[in-house]
Parts: sequence; structure tokens; C-alpha cells
Amino acid sequence: MLEQIRQTADYVRSRVEGEMPKTAIILGTGLGALVDHIENKQFIPYTDIPNFPLSTVEGHSGNLIFGTLGGKRVMGMQGRFHYYEGYDMKQVTFPVRVMKALGISTLFVSNAAGGMNPAFEIGDIMIITDHINLFPEHPLRGKNFPELGTRFPDMSDAYSSRLIKQALKIAEEKGIRVMQGVYIGTQGPTFETPAEYRYFHRIGGDAVGMSTVPEVIVARHGGMEVFGVSVITDLGVEGVVEVATHEDVQRAAEAAQPRMMEIMRELVSRFEE
Ligand code: HPA
Repeated sequence: MLEQIRQTADYVRSRVEGEMPKTAIILGTGLGALVDHIENKQFIPYTDIPNFPLSTVEGHSGNLIFGTLGGKRVMGMQGRFHYYEGYDMKQVTFPVRVMKALGISTLFVSNAAGGMNPAFEIGDIMIITDHINLFPEHPLRGKNFPELGTRFPDMSDAYSSRLIKQALKIAEEKGIRVMQGVYIGTQGPTFETPAEYRYFHRIGGDAVGMSTVPEVIVARHGGMEVFGVSVITDLGVEGVVEVATHEDVQRAAEAAQPRMMEIMRELVSRFEE
């Protein structure tokens, strides 16, 4: 694995003109168009990248993007690898390993999620304050390589309280409604039954989705600071569970895109270099 990470990082470095960024952004379902806001872009299709899995789901184009956002160099992942597609957790999180090898120190993750908190509305942005890992396989299972991180990583501040505070301030300044909550990561690909939504809410979840948790675990293993946002694309609130389709999820995520972009851009622009 170490050799593969090194090989892929070397390849990416050889393709990128200009300085390597310190911040990476993973764009979730329906949020891929956020790259339109990245300036002076360079695209590297996943199909060109050695050791990279291929993205298979509609709405995920599959490119690494290098450019500037809010005046700062950033790396974007347009399309991520989901466990439900059949990849194992090492594959799902491989790009985060490569990011670390490239010198990324801050990871932004975004996703589309079902809301279970009764205060949530479709189209809301939820800043992730914590997560519950319900995936059946752990990305750090197996031999630990000390070069990549410690055997038993601390997860007490998995979603940086410092970045959450800054994002809340930005949202307030810009008059953007943001919620906060706990994200539950589950394998999918089924959306939840009403009983499952109820159960996930009772155990402490505010939103549920099929991604993010593995990448955040690996980012924390590698010592990165993490900021995560969910777009609430459908509701699993007791009494109002409605039929959810992938198209509904994409549409709601697209509608929330500009607001999410605003927060991310401001957050990046305020980083000290
Ligand atoms: N459940 C799981 N994943 C999701 C949902 C949901 O309701 N919405 C978007 N991704």
C-alpha cells in the first residue's frame, strides 16, 4: 500500500503545474458543479491516475482538480468512491492517503444526506459536528503503518471545532441558514425504512448518508484537520418520511450548492498560509 500511495502521489505531482495545495475538498452527490467556482483549473481524470479506482455512479464525473478558490490553492475530488459500489474500504479511502502524501493538511468533505432532525428542511446545510460509524468494515482494519498514522487514532475532535466556529461565523455574516448535527454513515445503497430513520435518530443521528465517515477516519489517522458539510436532500423525520430517489437527492443538492460554496470559499480564504 505504501508503494502504491507513493506511486500515485508522484504521478499526480508530475501532472500538476504550480504549487501543491494544503486544502482538499471532496465533492459529494449533486455537488460536483462546485468546481465551476475553482479558478485556473487543471483536471486529472481518475482514469489517468495509477492505482485509482473508477467512479461508477451517475452524478460523479471522476476528476481531481487543482486550482484556486478564495485566493488559495485547492485540490478538489469531483466524484468519490462509495462502499456500496463494491470497493473495499482501502479503495474508498485511497485518495485521502494520496492527499496526505501530497502534503494536504486540511480536508473539506461534503455529501448529500437524509435529515432526521425535525428542525431540518430539504435544502438545509448541516455542518457536521460529529459522526457515528455504522459501516460494516473499518478503513483502518489490518496492519497499521506508523508512517501513515497511529494504531489507535483519537476521534474526540474529528470535525475541527475551530473550523466549525469559523464556518458558523461566516454563515451568520452572510445570512446563510446553517444547521449543525451528527452524521451517521451507513453502507446503503437502500435509503432507510421509516423504522431505520427512527432508529438512527434515536441513537443520536441528525442526518444519514452513505459516505464521508471512511474518508474522515483516514484523514484523522493522517493528522489532517477536517471540516464536513451535509446538504439535507430528503427527510426521514417521523411522520414525514417520503419517497426518496437519486434524482431528488441530486436536485436538492444542486439547489444548495451556491450557499455551500460561499461558506467553503470564505473558510478557505481566511486560512493562514
Ligand atoms: N439516506 C441515506 N443516504 C442518503 C440519503 C438518505 O436519506 N439522502 C441522501 N443520501
